[in-house]
Amino acid sequence: QRALGQGGALAGRHILVTAGPTHEPIDPVRYIANRSSGKQGFAIAGALAALGARVTLVAGPVTLPTPPGVTRIDVETARQMAAAVDAALPADAAVMVAAVADWHVDAAGQKIKKQADGAPPALALTENPDILAGLAANPRRPALVVGFAAETEKVVEHATAKRARKGADWIVANDVSGDVMGGANNSVHIVTANGVESWPDLPKEAVAMRLAERIAAALGS
Ligand code: CTP
Ligand code: CA
Repeated sequence: QRALGQGGALAGRHILVTAGPTHEPIDPVRYIANRSSGKQGFAIAGALAALGARVTLVAGPVTLPTPPGVTRIDVETARQMAAAVDAALPADAAVMVAAVADWHVDAAGQKIKKQADGAPPALALTENPDILAGLAANPRRPALVVGFAAETEKVVEHATAKRARKGADWIVANDVSGDVMGGANNSVHIVTANGVESWPDLPKEAVAMRLAERIAAALGS
């Protein structure tokens, strides 16, 4: 059998993908997290590999099989994800699909017990590193940095602001006001320096393949 993607449009390229949620422990038995199935990120990793790229997929906790030809690094927290992304450099492109938790908790070493007086524990939240912004500002920045933005309203407006704020080349803006989370389809807008391109509602695999082809064209292979 022919090696996956051999001689494809992304042959010889190394592409980094983050996917899934992160889990931030509260104590040994509890965590806070974002809602994310990992489906879109895993589909993108698979599509890039199918075009011949060497793909490093840094994955938060999800129950999905690793796409063929993809090197997967499993992490739990945002801080672990940031370290794994850094360790995977250099890369020609990065696609940050992960739904990274914005905060972590100073985790308790033992299970937090309910108090007799019913007083809830006070969770002190600390902001996590912004992995996308950090990568975009990194001296070893990939030539193409793609972020995602899940928005429930003013989708393009928020994504355009996010693109500038984080220093990403493209933001794939995702309208999550419907049933995108865990669903099979995705409707996205690609926000670049040249404006906004709106794609029809497509299966996540089709979004992945279109994005992989667009990345191949941008890298000029
Ligand atoms: N992201 C990241 N590290 C973080 C938070 C977000 O790398 N700590 C990345 C995501 O993977 C995604 C992009 O940044 O590619 C946008 O994430 P989003 O949560 O929409 O952005 P935030 O800046 O956290 O804005 P918001 O307040 O809307 O959550
Ligand atoms: Ca966020």
